[in-house]
Amino acid sequence: MSTPPETNTLPHSTESPSSPALPANSGDSKPQSPLSLTQRPRRNRATEAVRSLIRETSINPSNLIYPLFVHAGSDDQPIDAMPGCKRWSPAGILTEIARAHTLGINAIILFPAIEDALKNPTADEAWNPEGLIPNIIQSIKYEFPQVLVITDVALDPYNSDGHDGVVDPDGTILNDTTVAILVKQALAHAQAGADIVAPSDMMDGRIGAIRAALDAENFTSTAIMSYTAKYASAYYGPFRGALDSAPKSGDKKTYQMDPANAREAIRELQLDASEGADIIMVKPAGPYLDVIHRLRQQTTLPVAAYQVSGEYVMIKTAAAGGYLNEDKLILESLLGIRRAGADMILTYFAPRAAELMQN
Ligand code: PBG
Repeated sequence: MSTPPETNTLPHSTESPSSPALPANSGDSKPQSPLSLTQRPRRNRATEAVRSLIRETSINPSNLIYPLFVHAGSDDQPIDAMPGCKRWSPAGILTEIARAHTLGINAIILFPAIEDALKNPTADEAWNPEGLIPNIIQSIKYEFPQVLVITDVALDPYNSDGHDGVVDPDGTILNDTTVAILVKQALAHAQAGADIVAPSDMMDGRIGAIRAALDAENFTSTAIMSYTAKYASAYYGPFRGALDSAPKSGDKKTYQMDPANAREAIRELQLDASEGADIIMVKPAGPYLDVIHRLRQQTTLPVAAYQVSGEYVMIKTAAAGGYLNEDKLILESLLGIRRAGADMILTYFAPRAAELMQN
């Protein structure tokens, strides 16, 4: 990771040089006649002591969920599309979880890169109890029983068509056929020891179907974090590069939400809540702060937000180009998501953010 400039030495910055330490309301060193103002909001910004006293939003490592990519190979592969991220080997991921946990990260979410030979149109590998994800869940829970393990439930990493659902010959993404497979996938994850399953597919009715199946198999303690308002977003590009999971044809607009819609997110929230979701999610995060805010006001359920791969890459590349300060952007972007109303944030910056929060 590049060392960010501490002060205003960035080549293209428009900020003014940092001001010298002056007392509050300075600049008018000897005002002839002070303005007659009963309200001077700057009094509450005068020192770090008062600023920290009135601060409305806090964020700490326990609010973060760390997304991790895993593959079956024995090497930890850098991901070209996401500088600083890796496709971890089953051994490497344990080392990375240990590092993150030392920094205060207590929750992770897993994404598999599956070899092409294991992909087919019905994504059978998605619910193989001996598959990559169930095996990884077991080894993580064995090494770190206290770390919360969340799994992504969707077919795209396993589907030769690259869609989150099964594709009919006519191109339709089949809803109910897909839900039946997602149920098997969620059960395989629960059996392996996942604490939370997180359906990211946006099929109708999958929360209720998964809840019923988990309960029928006595997994009443396995929680569901629903990708409730997941938009058909260009910000997922780098992630699909990381997993080689881009749709082979068409787009995801018949199941992921239209970026123009916010009221529709409330409808999805009402359905997910009634079907038994324990946590709801908005994704992406930064460009959808209004949606986070609306859902926060509409529900007593905890709200998660996913700062996705594109948001990550925008910060990384702007900082690598010398245009912006990476560490400050990490904290400000996460704080903004919290301020909008997210209780927890999924972010590829999790370990670095935790490090920064400790200082
Ligand atoms: C797939 C899935 C995606 C992401 C999480 N789960 C990609 C997609 O829907 O195409 C994106 C995460 C990111 O961009 O960081 N079910």
